[in-house]
Amino acid sequence: MKHILFIIGSLRKESFNRQLAHEAEKLLAGVAEVTYLDYTDVPFINQDIEHPAPAAVVRIRETVAQADGIWIFTPEYNFSYPGHLKNLLDWLSRPVVPNDYATPTVINGKKVTLSGAGGQMATGKCREKLTELLTFIKADVMAAPQTGVTLNAEAWSEGRMILTDAQRTALKEQAEAFVKFLG
Ligand SMILES: Cc1cc2nc3c(=O)[nH]c(=O)nc-3n(C[C@H](O)[C@H](O)[C@H](O)COP(=O)(O)O)c2cc1C
Repeated sequence: MKHILFIIGSLRKESFNRQLAHEAEKLLAGVAEVTYLDYTDVPFINQDIEHPAPAAVVRIRETVAQADGIWIFTPEYNFSYPGHLKNLLDWLSRPVVPNDYATPTVINGKKVTLSGAGGQMATGKCREKLTELLTFIKADVMAAPQTGVTLNAEAWSEGRMILTDAQRTALKEQAEAFVKFLG
């Protein structure tokens, strides 16, 4: 069974994007093994502390290396991706051995798919910019399908996201397409 690493682009406990990930996890039951990346202890990237890599960075690199694919569920912050997600990807994009740019990084060639829950744009701008970033650091992004959820008034007031049938179908189609994409 393939192993898919889920990365949530929100640090919020009741995050809608975490809720979306839990829905996707249910859809993958019996099809793929799912684990979640905890990166809350990863420091801000700073070349003064890059080598030797901090323990949290060593751990996330190992976790990413072991995954067959990555599914990112992220909110959109000001028409882009959240800073802590960029920080995580910056660490993953760097050589493990100082100045060794010949050995592929752990994100190089890694298959990635994107989803997000947010406002009117359904995180479209964020996913567009994230695709550009991931492509630059040589990840293999599945261009389509992606799932973008525009949160309804009830979600904003109750803090609980309930997917429509169409949104659940989109998520299911994305899950199936990604498992195929993993080969
Ligand atoms: C700094 C910041 C910027 C935001 N900018 C956007 C935005 O550009 N587009 C959008 O749809 N929502 C934006 N939001 C609202 C988020 O979509 C909303 O807070 C959402 O619940 C965050 O996802 P989460 O529930 O997974 O934490 C922004 C929120 C924050 C904190």
